Amino acid sequence: MKDVMLLIGAGQIGMAIARRMGYGMKIVVGDKKLENANTISKIMNDAGFDATPAEMDLSSRISIHRIIAQAQTYGNITMLVNAAGVSPSQASIETILMVDLYGTAVLLEEVGKVIAPGGVGVTISSQSGHRMPALTPEEDEQLACTPTGELLKLPLLQPKNIRDTLHAYQLAKRCNEKRVMAESVKWGAKGARINSISPGIIVTPLAIDEFNGPRGDFYKNMFAKCPAGRPGTADEVANVAELLMSHKGTYITGTDVLIDCGATASYFYGPLKP
Ligand SMILES: NC(=O)c1ccc[n+]([C@@H]2O[C@H](COP(=O)([O-])OP(=O)(O)OC[C@H]3O[C@@H](n4cnc5c(N)ncnc54)[C@H](O)[C@@H]3O)[C@@H](O)[C@H]2O)c1
Repeated sequence: MKDVMLLIGAGQIGMAIARRMGYGMKIVVGDKKLENANTISKIMNDAGFDATPAEMDLSSRISIHRIIAQAQTYGNITMLVNAAGVSPSQASIETILMVDLYGTAVLLEEVGKVIAPGGVGVTISSQSGHRMPALTPEEDEQLACTPTGELLKLPLLQPKNIRDTLHAYQLAKRCNEKRVMAESVKWGAKGARINSISPGIIVTPLAIDEFNGPRGDFYKNMFAKCPAGRPGTADEVANVAELLMSHKGTYITGTDVLIDCGATASYFYGPLKP
């Protein structure tokens, strides 16, 4: 038996984190597109990792149960990396809510039930959640604590109250941060930790779809004006994940780390202000 990492989302950010943290472990790589899980598993296995691909749908609790059960056949789940998601230019309001908001909430809940003592997880949120104005304390608490089966019935998550797919994405990512806070209390009771990372613009297939979508110029202007003058890389997100997931992060749980090279700061108080 081995320690198991459950990697949901066979994309660039997920792989970068798995490569940083997953050596010596069994890595179960789940993705809705089996070809993505196969591709990432092959790259990792060719580099000496022990990865097994699996088809799964983050928006389905049954699918989440199934992949957890599969992972447990190899040993205890000691790490979770959730880097699956759809962006505003890739999906409808309903799909974004089902995958990014509801699916992430269910995954954190279900893995929280089985995570091994000392276990650790990260889920990828987004700078987009930070750009959205503050919600009321009551709305924040609803996003944090409403039972997963009731989440999508909340008034603020009704599609008629959501302006467009970007607004849906922002709500989903805000919800990710709030769920991580609430879940960290439950994970903490087991001696386990869970955090989120909110990346800025990181070059991946998802970001490339955004560059080619209706907000392409907005995003290109955003990274042109940041101190680095370029978009970020998945490996830079993995630097943060390594801090959060390694022994150095033992005192960090229930929080979100924004890694956007100052784009959010500039959006509120600098040249990116709309
Ligand atoms: N790239 C960026 O600029 C950026 C910025 C902020 C946040 N993020 C977030 O990072 C996460 C990872 O994205 P990425 O940029 O690495 O993109 P990516 O396209 O490289 O990977 C995303 C993966 O998620 C999978 N996926 C989509 N829907 C799924 C579902 N229902 N079930 C299982 N898998 C599903 C896709 O098939 C894909 O393989 C996402 O949550 C995204 O919102 C990305």
